[in-house]
Amino acid sequence: MAAMVYRAVMVVRTWFPASLEGRLVVLRRHVPENLSAFRRWYSDPEIARLARYKEGPMRMDEVDRFFQVRAVGPGSLAMAIHLQGSDRLIGTCALSQMDGDNGSALFHITIGEKDAWGRGYGTEATRIMVAHAFETLGLHRISLSVFAFNERAIRSYASCGFTAEGRAREAIWRDGQWWDEVSMSLLEPEWRQRKAQVKGDHATVAEPQRGDLAAPHHGDLAVPPRGR
Ligand SMILES: CC(C)(COP(=O)(O)OP(=O)(O)OC[C@H]1O[C@@H](n2cnc3c(N)ncnc32)[C@H](O)[C@@H]1OP(=O)(O)O)[C@@H](O)C(=O)NCCC(=O)NCCS
Repeated sequence: MAAMVYRAVMVVRTWFPASLEGRLVVLRRHVPENLSAFRRWYSDPEIARLARYKEGPMRMDEVDRFFQVRAVGPGSLAMAIHLQGSDRLIGTCALSQMDGDNGSALFHITIGEKDAWGRGYGTEATRIMVAHAFETLGLHRISLSVFAFNERAIRSYASCGFTAEGRAREAIWRDGQWWDEVSMSLLEPEWRQRKAQVKGDHATVAEPQRGDLAAPHHGDLAVPPRGR
């Protein structure tokens, strides 16, 4: 019954695509059945170390609430990350705190299956979400924060065009020492310029192909497009 209600609600959210296709991954709306994967991912201390402010993993009731609010709830545009081909579910990514007045949103990503780290899947998922945010939703700015020791994430975001714009000094206590929290952002004109540059160069860089979208047409936008 809950699943039926959920699906009925999702059908009317036309700004929220059913799927976004990349070369390596396909992003799909979360379904209630994905909860078991969330429980496994977010009870892992290694994931918690990289992605959580609090020391240690979430309790199961916290994971369940997180899934209801952040994955299938109406407040954030969360997508499950599946591998192309096998369709294996490997992670989740989301735009949250979408602010129509200021054209901004926060980006979050977790590849929960650890054997899928370091293979370019998260980076492609980020590119796809960024393209959706700027091209379809008409956002102006996407920001995120990342712990300074998370080199893989910082490199991944940088390769998608995010710039470090600030550091909260010694904001995180982890592994027995203090670490900065790095704030990164990407503006729509910067993203558009990078895209044009890559196209203009006829570069062999994978960027445009990786971010190629086969999203269905969306009538209602979350944020009205602004003058470009
Ligand atoms: C962060 C994350 C999204 C990155 O996605 P990914 O698909 O694993 O990343 P990629 O394979 O594209 O690698 C990104 C970059 O990190 C580099 N890298 C890979 N493994 C690395 C490692 N162990 N240490 C440092 N750099 C590493 C890659 O070479 C690549 O750099 P390059 O673009 O300069 O070549 C993903 O690993 C993840 O979700 N990790 C767990 C949770 C997490 O950290 N979330 C982010 C919280 S802010």
